[in-house]
Amino acid sequence: MMNIAVFASGNGSNFQSLYEATQSGQLKATIKLVVCNKPEAYVIERAKACGIPCFVCSPKDFPDKAAYEQAILNELQANSIDFLVLAGYMRLVGPTLLQPYKNRIVNIHPSLLPAFPGMDAIGQAFDAGVKVIGITVHFVDEGMDTGPIIDQQAIRVNEEDTRETVEARIHEIEHTFYPQVLNKLFQQLMVK
Ligand code: GAR
Repeated sequence: MMNIAVFASGNGSNFQSLYEATQSGQLKATIKLVVCNKPEAYVIERAKACGIPCFVCSPKDFPDKAAYEQAILNELQANSIDFLVLAGYMRLVGPTLLQPYKNRIVNIHPSLLPAFPGMDAIGQAFDAGVKVIGITVHFVDEGMDTGPIIDQQAIRVNEEDTRETVEARIHEIEHTFYPQVLNKLFQQLMVK
């Protein structure tokens, strides 16, 4: 089984759904660690409630990005982590993590990339008036929501939709889509 670390910066609803998918057997992997860069993030409470160790590591406490990521890398290696799953981790990943985890870091983003990368993707798409929005799971490189696309799910925006209803629908779909895509990917990697 793949040992994974989930990286999150905020609410952690995707962490929660990934954890539940591992418990139900839908996602054949073990979440051994949560990594969080924000000491006030709610994901820390969620991890505690699920009994998953959470490494809280604030970039402010380090002289530079390389030192910050080295501290995370040490923790990942100490926990024998095979694969990094970003779920609302709002930082760019640098070479210190990208090199040892080449092709083993994925992210979920709430838009049909390459459209609407960056912060508040759902708001950006809603304000642009697009009628099809969606979700992308992709490999992570040094860019902002760039890297090879693994899978996407399109979602129609209806006349009566508001920003809030669209946001709620995207989150709900993310919670089933991400475990499914990861499970397929892990199965492929295990076979190789
Ligand atoms: C999710 O919608 C995820 O797709 C998005 O942050 C949210 C985190 O929610 N990620 C990005 O925008 C990455 N650029 P959560 O903390 O409740 O899982």
